[in-house]
Amino acid sequence: MADTAKRLSNAPAPPRGAAAPGTAKRLTSALQRVPVWLVYAVGFIPAVAYFALGVMDELGADPMKVLERELGEWALIFLIAGLCVTPLRQLLGLSLLRFRRALGLLAFWYVTLHLVTYLVLDQGLDWAAIWADIVKRPYITIGMASFVLLVPLALTSNNASIRRLGAQAWNRLHTLVYLAAAGGALHYLLVVKSWPLEPLIYAAIIATLLAWRGWRRIAKPAGARAARA
Ligand code: HEM
Repeated sequence: MADTAKRLSNAPAPPRGAAAPGTAKRLTSALQRVPVWLVYAVGFIPAVAYFALGVMDELGADPMKVLERELGEWALIFLIAGLCVTPLRQLLGLSLLRFRRALGLLAFWYVTLHLVTYLVLDQGLDWAAIWADIVKRPYITIGMASFVLLVPLALTSNNASIRRLGAQAWNRLHTLVYLAAAGGALHYLLVVKSWPLEPLIYAAIIATLLAWRGWRRIAKPAGARAARA
């Protein structure tokens, strides 16, 4: 969901820096023909499939846990996909900017469904138990904090909000997605308690994507200074 008012228009942005390699250019222009609604339609397939399997009693011995976990994992996948848009443009010249809002909103809707599954199916809307969980279990506290961070981003993921806030303030607000993604990865690491590979891989991918941005931020002003000199 983060950065740039280029999202005001759904038009493709030319890649920064070196000219896009031919393949990336061709792929970018082929992707211009893909309607954004298709990304939402395809993106919601896992949610629909898991709910349908749940209704048909095909999710194994503990269907609620499977549903809860799958929705959480898809939320993380869409968060990562959104965070990949900028590095793909910077490194390969492949512009997926048109789809970034859809990827961010899909992440938000998956987290919301994940949260609703927890509140309704897992906790049976027992607010005292839910509050006790938020206070006592660090992975729930961090998950909840990450969800709260995503709410203003989802609410302002529209052209009217970019115009109202101004590009700079909007971009600043949307850097919260970095914190939410780091929180999501940490939440997953804390859920599993042991050290299986999957949460570590997600955490490593998110750490790399955030480190890339940090490095660009540090390196860019230095590069600009060198160019001026
Ligand atoms: C950015 C926000 C969040 C992300 C990205 C996220 C992601 C995940 C992931 C990837 C898992 C593990 C899936 C697996 O084991 O394969 C998980 C599990 C879980 N999450 Fe979240 N989550 C978020 C927020 C929340 C919130 C707000 C709650 C509830 C308050 C929550 C409650 C849970 C629970 C109860 C589990 C399962 C624990 C168990 O297996 O017993 N999560 N989440």
